Amino acid sequence: MKNIWTLSLVLLLAVCCNEEKTIYKNPDAPIEKRVEDLLRRMTAEEKIWQLTQSRLGGNDNPNNVMRGDEHIPPIVGSMIYTSETAELGNAMQRIAVDSTRLGIPILFGYDAIHGFNSCFPIPLAQAASFNLELAGRANEITAQECREAGVRWNFSPMTDIARDARWGRVMEGYGEDPLLAASFCAATVKAYQGDDPSQPGRIAACLKHYVGYGASEGGRDYAATDISLQSLWDTYLPPFHSGIDAGALTVMSSFNTLNGVPTTASHYLLTEVLRERWGHEGFVVTDWAAVKQLVNQGAADNLKDACRIAFNAGAAMDMCDYVYPKHMQELIDEGAIKMKDVDEAVRRVLRVKFRLGLFEHPYADPSGSEAMSPSAKAELFEDLAQESMVLLKNDGILPLRQGCRITLAGPIADDKDAVLGNWRAHAKTDRSVSILEGMSTEFGSGVRIAKTDAEALSLARSSDVVVLCLGEPSKWSGENKSRASISLPAEQEELFFKLAATGKPIVVTVESGRPLDLSRINEKAAAILYTWCPGHMGGPAVAGLLSGRHNPSGKLPLTFVHDKGQIPLYYNHRNPSRRGDQGIYIDGVPVTPLYDFGYGLSYSKFEYSDLKLDGLTARVSVTNTSDRDGKEVVLWYITDPACSIARPAKELKHFEKRLIKAGQTEEFVFEIDKMRDLGFVDSEGRPFFESGRFILMAGDQMLEFNL
Ligand code: BGC
Repeated sequence: MKNIWTLSLVLLLAVCCNEEKTIYKNPDAPIEKRVEDLLRRMTAEEKIWQLTQSRLGGNDNPNNVMRGDEHIPPIVGSMIYTSETAELGNAMQRIAVDSTRLGIPILFGYDAIHGFNSCFPIPLAQAASFNLELAGRANEITAQECREAGVRWNFSPMTDIARDARWGRVMEGYGEDPLLAASFCAATVKAYQGDDPSQPGRIAACLKHYVGYGASEGGRDYAATDISLQSLWDTYLPPFHSGIDAGALTVMSSFNTLNGVPTTASHYLLTEVLRERWGHEGFVVTDWAAVKQLVNQGAADNLKDACRIAFNAGAAMDMCDYVYPKHMQELIDEGAIKMKDVDEAVRRVLRVKFRLGLFEHPYADPSGSEAMSPSAKAELFEDLAQESMVLLKNDGILPLRQGCRITLAGPIADDKDAVLGNWRAHAKTDRSVSILEGMSTEFGSGVRIAKTDAEALSLARSSDVVVLCLGEPSKWSGENKSRASISLPAEQEELFFKLAATGKPIVVTVESGRPLDLSRINEKAAAILYTWCPGHMGGPAVAGLLSGRHNPSGKLPLTFVHDKGQIPLYYNHRNPSRRGDQGIYIDGVPVTPLYDFGYGLSYSKFEYSDLKLDGLTARVSVTNTSDRDGKEVVLWYITDPACSIARPAKELKHFEKRLIKAGQTEEFVFEIDKMRDLGFVDSEGRPFFESGRFILMAGDQMLEFNL
């Protein structure tokens, strides 16, 4: 009997110890306990590898021509996974989970910024839709498709404020306005992560590029940036802050040197602001080889130095340059990197893995994208595309009447590639519905396609209208795709003028990842529809807008210039010291935009009236005076004419898009928050409020009040 008791006690102790030992494997244990349990079991080598990102896989996307690095141990923390299907990643994961000492799963990441297999409008176009809900639904599909391939981390949203269309990466962000960018950033984070990122169909977001990358001098990619601390806090940081508040699990440091210090080396940004002030609990990954680049940027003398500087600044994970695994141990031995800081960085990486449920579900989720049928997806993508397109000009020719004879011309008419734009992940051109296909379905035999310029001219003569599809090839925007000129390709402008000379009305559609300089064609075009890079369903969206099946409702998220010499030109600039005809260009270029931020036409007519303020509740009535139902975006602006820190000429504080039926009036409401909407921040980001006069604007309505 005594023996039985002793044996039971031994067994009980063994079970307890075992449980104690495997807390990190217990899905019911609190995440912080699991993190600490795992951390204390790890060797320094295992820790350093958790702070390393390598790559695996390959595809034909020019952004991802890589096959992965050899000799990467399966204890690596993360891999950029560039294959389209899950097999390779699952096989690698199996080794990490089953054959390493601690079985820590690898976090696979990828850039799926406007779809993974599906392709919908680029982020800049999403911003033009001003429809957070619609864009959110599309981004949820990205998350599901990523999960299906085993990708649990998306390097998106890019929330860099960009005011220079020469910079190729304007396509990846949400334009020039901090509120618009902050709103889309938060909505995208929610679309990827949901309320619980471990749930099926959810992945981790990564806010990038932190921070100021969009202010690259001269629009040249990778160039240094100089942003005053005031502008940093009032303009460039708010979208990131909003993404953190929305729960973004990770942040990517940017490539640029900011005010003399590369952001990847900035303790102020990566640790003081992000961790200490904003309370971010996830981790920072550097951008690609950004640790190495500290040497190019003049911030580090050699790679070991770069490792010390980036890591001590707060960059927890090193993307693809292997500087951490090469130099960190030596720096720890020398005392230049403290083990407690290594632990803190590893803790953050593990926390994200646990929050993603990666330990319980390390493999691809094959049912990831089944949530929606292909036809429902196509409908959603067409809707987002048509809501993001901006009608810049219409002399009355649009919508085109059924039965009219249309010549379809221009290089983009039958181009299934340009419409996908850059950073298209695994999207295939054969899934694109071209403008030609869309127009043929929409207008039937009334559409004749011109294959050459000569054919375009001859067909135009016997047509009622020419639809001329112009734009940039897809590889003209994106990373490392700066342009000194932002004109349409010269031969396209030439074709436009030849066709215009026939006297036939020319409806121009422009596909592009950036605002182009349209000043030369603007006057002679009968209509201009700016389509951005609309994705797989761009063709039907264009056709539907031209026929009137859709009613245009997109608005510009970026200012369009008359001349590239005006850059940077943005609506929320601070006021100049002299007014009127002072400070203008003496060579005849206007100082005002060709098309302003927030501009965009509709087939409906909207009239604003009765702007009033009741306490801090603002209301305005908008009447659709036309006979067509249409969506209107009400943009609420506030101006503070006098403040100890001069405020922008006007600032967008709230927006709402809503359908207004023909002949109906809708009331729009904006609940003004005193600190958020009337206050400001100083150059340290401290919010303050100064009482005085304010001007509230919505449409053509304006109201002054004192507070
Ligand atoms: C880009 C990032 C991207 C990363 C990984 C870098 O070159 O700047 O935006 O997330 O590559 O593909």
